[in-house]
Amino acid sequence: MIPEEKVREVAERLTIVEVVSDYVSLRRAGSNFLGLCPFHAEKTPSFNVNPAREIFHCFGCGAGGTAFSFVMKIEGVSFPEAVKLLARKAGIEIEERQLTPSEKKSQDEQSQFLRINDLTTAYYRSVLINGQEGAPARQYLADRSVQSGISDAYRLGFAPDRRDGLVKHLRNNGVDMDIALKLGIIRKSDAGWYDLFRNRLIFPIRNTRGQVIAFAGRVLDASLPKYINSPESPLYHKSSVLFGIDMALPSIRTGSAVIIVEGYFDHLALYRAGVHNVVATCGTALTGSHAALIKRHADRVYTLFDSDAAGKKATIRSMELFLEQRIPAYVISLPVGDDPDSFLATHPAEAFIALRDTARPAFDYFVRSLLLETPPDSVDSKVRIIDDIVPRFRKISDSIERDLYEKEICRLLGITVHAFRKRLGGGKRLQQETVSGPLTPIQAVDAIQDTLLALFLNYPDARAEIIRVGLETIFSNDYLDLAVLLQSCLADTESSTKLRQMADLIEKPEQKMLFSRMMVSDGYIADIEWRSVLDQCTRSSEKKQVSSIKDIAARLAVVVPGSDEYVQLLQQADNLRTRKSRL
Ligand code: UTP
Ligand code: MN
Repeated sequence: MIPEEKVREVAERLTIVEVVSDYVSLRRAGSNFLGLCPFHAEKTPSFNVNPAREIFHCFGCGAGGTAFSFVMKIEGVSFPEAVKLLARKAGIEIEERQLTPSEKKSQDEQSQFLRINDLTTAYYRSVLINGQEGAPARQYLADRSVQSGISDAYRLGFAPDRRDGLVKHLRNNGVDMDIALKLGIIRKSDAGWYDLFRNRLIFPIRNTRGQVIAFAGRVLDASLPKYINSPESPLYHKSSVLFGIDMALPSIRTGSAVIIVEGYFDHLALYRAGVHNVVATCGTALTGSHAALIKRHADRVYTLFDSDAAGKKATIRSMELFLEQRIPAYVISLPVGDDPDSFLATHPAEAFIALRDTARPAFDYFVRSLLLETPPDSVDSKVRIIDDIVPRFRKISDSIERDLYEKEICRLLGITVHAFRKRLGGGKRLQQETVSGPLTPIQAVDAIQDTLLALFLNYPDARAEIIRVGLETIFSNDYLDLAVLLQSCLADTESSTKLRQMADLIEKPEQKMLFSRMMVSDGYIADIEWRSVLDQCTRSSEKKQVSSIKDIAARLAVVVPGSDEYVQLLQQADNLRTRKSRL
């Protein structure tokens, strides 16, 4: 736990420009500094830093926030870690709250675990590189064209065909065997301690920070099992670990995309071909925690699984996870019979890039493979297909995407939208989603609301006026939430500190984006006659609402009377009318 005063001290000691300049080259442009965004690939700068507000915002990708959120995002660390990092930069010492004895013990154990894994990695590595016993593994790697640079990058190793080679090595280094036992890399029998891995090529598995947390071992021949992996341990939870994440992070950051593969050697093959934004699951199916980890670092994902039945199943299962977490997902399809390793052994890297560039949206891939499997040539098969599609379709959160897929599905199956919607039925989930679904306009930048919010922030008199009329009369949706937050921040005596912290407090990504955007771009509102701008804005939002009532009426004419959607629309129309009459 870092005390709040310390967080504030760090924030006050460093300017956001100093912090960002360590990563991005910035130049002055009016009241902002401008540079190339480190969070997405761009050629013309749209990354803005506002020194007065201590806020950054990228108009290209929407990333924004304080110096702390910048460091969190670029270093892939948590808030406390970002504070510590910046404290070090500022020369501020952070003494954390005293640890309780049990916390102290687990921290000690943690560092022993890491030391044991380092010793283990070094041991296997030296057997691979130097030892007589490593010769078959060196041959194996040579046969698979794994050069020493690659072997080095992965810190590959070899576990010799001995009962207790690792046990002895750890013991010689004074390791407490009972602690090593918890990592599962050594075991105990009546005849004494022995190694888990024997006669296997070793892949160390590392976390985002590059620390070795587990190992996987592959046989050198066709014997089974092909791989064994470290068991679950206090350091290693395979359902939330992605192999190769530390090697992939730099290029995930520049391209915002990540490719997921199934095998260690698939990872290696891509890495060797120069494709670095790749991670692999460690012998398990993809889980929700994997998806969450991905979401923290990337905004787009490609799956690259085998083209066999198991690979297809894994692809579709992962699509569901990505739909749930709202991560745009694409499927890269390899020629039948290939895996990434075999494909790259016979094709240049450019051929892979070409495949990647023709990757299909996961849902599209899903619908098409379903239709290949079950041709929609009878009522019966159509019903089966729809029943397969419906639960997944419900998970699509983007309203435009939903609309397009709905049309496409209906076209492919030769059914009416009405029939499809009927099948979608009134499940609970759906009802909720229609509220924010196809018919509510998606929350995007709204120029009028933008200006109103900027007035609200910059002109105390305008703020008072807006509060008098009522925030919910002037603002809607995300803007309303932001205005409420702003109101409470500005009421505080330390409003400028509070304002800066606000960027870190907002949880909804859309709102975060709108906020940081405004904070770096409301210069246009300086020195204006606020009253006339406020009047203009309220008048045009009035006009806009009239036209959206018209839109609603048009939709009402085509939806099924009495359906959930219909009721929803009526309610929306009603809300708009009330709001209008209050203006
Ligand atoms: P693969 O059999 O495709 O392995 O299994 P691979 O990594 O591509 O290796 P090569 O190219 O055949 O040598 C894919 C992944 O499934 C897990 C491993 O994570 C492997 O990388 N797996 C496979 C196991 O955990 N145990 C096994 O016995 C086999
Ligand atoms: Mn494979």
